[in-house]
Amino acid sequence: MKNYQKLLTITGAMLSLALVANAADIKLKITKKYLNLPVSHQVDRAVMTLNADGRPSQAFDICLAPSTPDYWVFCDVSQYKNKELTISYKGDNAGMAKIYQADEFAGQDSLYKESNRPQIHYTQKRGWNNDPNGLLYYDGEYHLFYQHNPYERDWGNMHWGHAVSKDLIHWEELPIALYPDEHGTMFSGSAVIDYNNTSGFGKKGNPAMVAIYTADSPAKQVQCIAYSLDKGRTWTKYQSNPVIDSKAKWNSQDTRDPKVFWHKPSNKWVLVLNERDGHSIYNSDNLKDWTFQSHVTGFWECPELFELPVDGNKNNTKWVMYGASGTYMIGSFDGKKFTPEAGKYYYSTGSIYAAQTFTNIPESDGRRIQIGWGRISHPGMPFNGTMLLPTSLSLKTTKDGVRLFSEPIKELETLQTLKE
Ligand code: FRU
Repeated sequence: MKNYQKLLTITGAMLSLALVANAADIKLKITKKYLNLPVSHQVDRAVMTLNADGRPSQAFDICLAPSTPDYWVFCDVSQYKNKELTISYKGDNAGMAKIYQADEFAGQDSLYKESNRPQIHYTQKRGWNNDPNGLLYYDGEYHLFYQHNPYERDWGNMHWGHAVSKDLIHWEELPIALYPDEHGTMFSGSAVIDYNNTSGFGKKGNPAMVAIYTADSPAKQVQCIAYSLDKGRTWTKYQSNPVIDSKAKWNSQDTRDPKVFWHKPSNKWVLVLNERDGHSIYNSDNLKDWTFQSHVTGFWECPELFELPVDGNKNNTKWVMYGASGTYMIGSFDGKKFTPEAGKYYYSTGSIYAAQTFTNIPESDGRRIQIGWGRISHPGMPFNGTMLLPTSLSLKTTKDGVRLFSEPIKELETLQTLKE
């Protein structure tokens, strides 16, 4: 899919943040919300670092425009308020003079009115998106986290972007949830509510929202966790990350995209992980210590595993395992091992990829709601990619056997107006 080789000088840059002062560095006292950065696709990416005393520093790749920019991107610098920020750039410094801080980001007045801006599909204000991550319902809000490059309309610098909705139709973009760190950039993953405080991250009356994600670096891909006690607005990374490091076992760079859920019958957390050539199952009591259980070959990236009634009959359920391309198998699951009972099929085709389903949907609703990444670009725009409209997944008996169906959720009808 992506050229992982290209990926990032970031980790290296983050490890060597003890910057040598450079004549072209900019020092700014941060008094505004955004740093506005000009981008040009005529130049190569180079590493920019932001350093502030006593605050976590950031490093990312950007094509800083030396002359007329193709578009502008922004970095929310509220966390550096009243600090002196040193900005350094390893590429052509000519663009440094154009960087400015403001309480509005460049182009904010035409936000969502741009010529190629989708109007009913979610797109982020600026930059790139891919896979939906951490899809979760909690306390009246649906959370959509997603793979996000804030600094370019192409893939790179993976962060977890974040948006919330009360109805799965209208989304509000929130500040970035997860930033790259010393383990790497933030690849795909999932999120759960730890109601029983198995992780110890929660507070009385305030269960932790826990994100389980892959940190990607040129060396390897490892699984990490972070928690939030304010409904996903701010996150604390677990100090003993990573929680799974399985590159050596599989002799593979491809160990990623953990999807976690609570398995009531065995009273354990289950984690499904793409490892080399398929999906592995791990168990845990506390979201921190994971034990490998089994592996199914023949799937690639962004695993899913969930139970669905057949033809709506709750007394007759089957389990579905799928991968990013939309191939799935139906079978049974005992908490440790998924046993397929038939062949592999596709439940959809087209631009959909890396679709994920929501966790923690109230039992009274009971639907298995899915959002997929739409590999659709928007020519000439400072943003790229889109989230497809939510669908509801179900198992139905057909003349060929039981199959997975994906249908638009009923809430979408609220977008339709009847013409007389
Ligand atoms: C799927 C994918 C995932 C990975 C992410 C990186 O599109 O390749 O496997 O975690 O994208 O952005």
